[in-house]
Amino acid sequence: MMRMSSFVQRLGIECPLVQAPMAGATTPELVAAVSNAGGLGSLGAGYTEPQAILDQAARIRALTDRPFALNLFVLPDEVAPDPAAVTRARARLDALMEREGLSVRTSLPARWAPRFSEQFAALCEARPAVASFAFDLLAPTQMQELKRRGIYVIGTATTAAEARAWAERGADAVCVQGAEAGGHRGGFLHAGETPLIGLFALIPLAASAVAASGRDIPVIASGGIMDGAGMLAAEVLGAAASQLGTAFLACPESSAAEAWKHDLAAAEDHRVATIRSFSGRAARGLRNRYVEAMEGAVDELPAYPVLNALTAPLRRAAAAAGRADLLSEWCGQAAARVRPQPAAELVARLMHEYRLARRALAPH
Ligand SMILES: Cc1cc2nc3c(=O)[nH]c(=O)nc-3n(C[C@H](O)[C@H](O)[C@H](O)COP(=O)(O)O)c2cc1C
Repeated sequence: MMRMSSFVQRLGIECPLVQAPMAGATTPELVAAVSNAGGLGSLGAGYTEPQAILDQAARIRALTDRPFALNLFVLPDEVAPDPAAVTRARARLDALMEREGLSVRTSLPARWAPRFSEQFAALCEARPAVASFAFDLLAPTQMQELKRRGIYVIGTATTAAEARAWAERGADAVCVQGAEAGGHRGGFLHAGETPLIGLFALIPLAASAVAASGRDIPVIASGGIMDGAGMLAAEVLGAAASQLGTAFLACPESSAAEAWKHDLAAAEDHRVATIRSFSGRAARGLRNRYVEAMEGAVDELPAYPVLNALTAPLRRAAAAAGRADLLSEWCGQAAARVRPQPAAELVARLMHEYRLARRALAPH
């Protein structure tokens, strides 16, 4: 309870609830609706060019005067893939699109991804109350720059060691991403591995690791939480707040393709898997026709962000054609529990459930 109130009070929000940043699915309308309802809305800007980050932050500000978060993927500015691997991947993807009757083909983009240093400069200029990061640690100078501007920093960790690394780097809070979590794995320390620690194990492990660093910062729990009882469970284990992604994906304010939203409710838990073949980086989503078609080729495909850029035309065409079976349908393990409804209603419902669960546990 102490931990929860310190996070909520420090940020000036009302609920121990963070709507997860979801690059490609979060919109200014979703972020503002959650922040207006008392949670912390977050915009996933990892794929967004610097000017668009500024424009979207301005749009959020036009819709709410409450705190919100901007989120980026920490990546090197320069990417130099093996040209032969790119050619092979393009041939494979083009053949698949032809077989599936899609008329688009891959192309070489001007850049494989937006430059992180330029996105970071735009984030600093936009000056949100909160900035959150995944895929790597910030450099110490970048951390200082955010502190100088009074921006609250949340780092993403998938293991206890990563949680400690963020605490030592100066983060104000660490978001722990359990194995259940939808979307890309945010970790960075364990080269060649994809740690998949369940949230029940990870919250207490990360809380101890953070405490051992001498900086007792809040731990935010993410992965598979779909209701208020789950939020309370995370708090009982030591979390200060819960970060929910998939639960908000089916909201009308989310920009996930309609066919993807539709598939969430029917997602069988055993079909929600860790997938590399869309982006070159492990991410949790639905095993569909594309994933199965690429199964034998995964080890030959280029790494993130190269493969992500190469599959973009396919994913756009699939969304336009309503072909969810060829889309990156990111979602957490509990996707079938989505409750499609406006984001403000979902926040109110989550908080109602959370309070009921508290009362049920401690009736007097
Ligand atoms: C569609 C989707 C996109 C995501 N994109 C991001 C992102 O851009 N940045 C980030 O830090 N986390 C991202 N995540 C991970 C979330 O922050 C969070 O860990 C996850 O949603 C929690 O699990 P849940 O989906 O079961 O609630 C994404 C998750 C999903 C489902």
